[in-house]
Amino acid sequence: MKFFIDTANLTQIKEAQTLGILDGVTTNPSLMAKERITGTENIKNHYKAICDIIEGDVSAEVIGTTYEEMIKEGEELAALHPQIVVKLPMIKDGVKACKYFSDNGIRTNITLVFSAGQALLAAKAGATYVSPFIGRLDDISTDGLHLISEIRKVYDNYNFQTEILAASVRHTMHINNCAKIGADVMTGPLSAIEGLLKHPLTDIGLEKFLADYKKGN
Ligand code: G3P
Repeated sequence: MKFFIDTANLTQIKEAQTLGILDGVTTNPSLMAKERITGTENIKNHYKAICDIIEGDVSAEVIGTTYEEMIKEGEELAALHPQIVVKLPMIKDGVKACKYFSDNGIRTNITLVFSAGQALLAAKAGATYVSPFIGRLDDISTDGLHLISEIRKVYDNYNFQTEILAASVRHTMHINNCAKIGADVMTGPLSAIEGLLKHPLTDIGLEKFLADYKKGN
C-alpha cells in the first residue's frame, strides 16, 4: 500500500519524508489556500518545491472546468516536473481530459469520486489514480469504506490498472481499514500516519526494558 500525505505544508511533507515511508503527495486548491499559496506562478513554484522534497508522485489539480482549459492547464502542470500527476475533477470534461492525457502519456488522478460508477468511468478513461473521498461520505452518514470495497471489486472484475487512492482519509482507523480492503494508496494527514505508531503497550514495554537495563548497569 502506498502512503501519500494530503497537504501542501512543506514542513509536514519533510516530516513525513524523514519517516522513510512516504510515496507521494496530494494537494488540492483548498490545501494550497490553507498554506496561503496564491497566484498561478506561486502555486507552480510550490509544486516544484514539493517535488524537490520527495521522490514520488505529486498530484497537482487543475482549476479549469472545460475540456480546453483542463488540457492547457494539465499540460503546463505536467511540464513542471516528471513527478507531477494531473488531478482532474470527476465531471464530463474531466473524463474527456483524462482520456486525452492517458493517450498522451500524462498521468492523471480523478478526484471528487463518490460512487463506483464514477470510478468505473475514470478507469475506462485510463486514469492512473482514482480518488474516492471516504471522510466526506462518512460526514453525510454514508459508509466511505464501503465505496472502497465496491471499487476494489469492480476493478478486480476487469483487471483495471487504475490505482484506488483512498482520499479524504481523516484518521488512523481509515488507514487500517483501507489496507484491509486493498486500497492501492491512501492519502491522509500526518496525524493519521503518525497514529499508526501508537500503542500503549509499546510505550510501557519500552519503559520497562530501559528500566531493567539500568538496573543491571
Ligand atoms: O484528498 C482529498 C482530500 O484533500 C479531501 O479531504 O478532509 O477535505 O475531506 P477532506
